[in-house]
Amino acid sequence: MAFPVTRLRRLRRTPALRELVRETRLDAGDLVMPLFVEEGLGEPAPIAAMPGISRLSVAGAVAECGELVELGIPAVLLFGIPAEKDEQGSGAWADAGVVQQAVRAIKAAHPELAVITDLCLCEYTSHGHCGALSDAGEVENDATLELLARAAVSQARAGADVIAPSDMMDGRVGAIRSALDADGRPEVPIMAYSAKFASAYYGPFREAAGSAPAFGDRRGYQMDPGNPAEAVREALLDEQEGADVVMVKPALAYLDVIRRVADATALPVAAYNVSGEYAMVKAAARDGLLDERATVLETLTAIRRAGAGIVISYHAKDAARWLRT
Ligand code: PBG
Ligand code: ZN
Repeated sequence: MAFPVTRLRRLRRTPALRELVRETRLDAGDLVMPLFVEEGLGEPAPIAAMPGISRLSVAGAVAECGELVELGIPAVLLFGIPAEKDEQGSGAWADAGVVQQAVRAIKAAHPELAVITDLCLCEYTSHGHCGALSDAGEVENDATLELLARAAVSQARAGADVIAPSDMMDGRVGAIRSALDADGRPEVPIMAYSAKFASAYYGPFREAAGSAPAFGDRRGYQMDPGNPAEAVREALLDEQEGADVVMVKPALAYLDVIRRVADATALPVAAYNVSGEYAMVKAAARDGLLDERATVLETLTAIRRAGAGIVISYHAKDAARWLRT
C-alpha cells in the first residue's frame, strides 16, 4: 500500500493546481498608492527614509497617476505639503491649496482614477498636531471638528472621490458627513481611519510630510497598541456616524485587529501598510537580507487574508508590476 498522501499535497503539485485552490488573491485592483504632493516643488524630491518614494509637484503627481492607471491601480491617497504652515493649518481648506490643485489636475487628466484625499491638519499646522490647540497646548477635539469639516468640503469641491479623515478626533465622521451633505454632496464617501494606533511605524512619513509634532506626542488621540476591542468599537462608531469604509492602521503589526474589525462590520475594510513597514523591507532588501518582491507579495497577501479588501501601500506600484509578470 502506498504511503498516504494528503489531499493538500496532491493539490500543490503544479502551479495551476496551486492557483486553483488559493484562498486569498492579491490583485492590482485591491491596491491604493499614497502620493505626497508638495506646493511649489519642481523636480521630485526623494524621501531619504523611504527609498523609491518622492515628494512630487502637482504635474509630477499627474504623471505618476498615468503610470498607476496603466498598471491597473484604481486609486491614490493624496497627502499635501503646503509651502507655509500656520497655527490653525489653514492650508488644509484653502481653495488653491496644494491638495485641492492636485485633485483638480489629476481628475482632469485621469478621470477614471479614484482620488482619495487624506484629511488631517498635522501637515498644515506649524506645531504638527492633528488638531487645534488650546492655550494650554492641548488638542481641542470639538474645535477641531469645524476645521476638519471645512477642509473636507474644500477637498470635495475640488473633486475628491473619497474623503479620508486621519486625525482621530471623536465625532469627526459625523461632523464631516453633515458638512458634505449640507454642501449638497451626499454622494461623496468617507473612508475613516477608524483604528489608528499611536505607532512608531509612522516615523518615515513624518519626515516625508514634515509633520512630526513640535512637542508632545499623539497618544492623546491615537490608539494604544494593546487595545483591539477599542479598535472594534471605534470602527462601529464610525460606521454609525456614516463612514463608508473603515480602516485599520498600521497593518502588519495589527493583522488580528484587521480580522476583528472585518468580522464586526459589513462595511469594506481598508488597511494601511505604513511608511515604517515599507522602510523596513526596503532597508533589509538593500542590505541583501530579504528578497523584496517575495516579501512584499507575501505581506500584502497576509493583509488581504486578515480581512482587508483594500490595501494602501507604498509598495502598490511595485506590487502591481510584479503581479503582471
Ligand atoms: C496624518 C497621517 C499620518 C499617517 C497618515 N496620515 C501620520 C501620523 O499620524 O503621524 C501615517 C502614514 C504612514 O506612516 O505611512 N495624521
Ligand atoms: Zn494628523
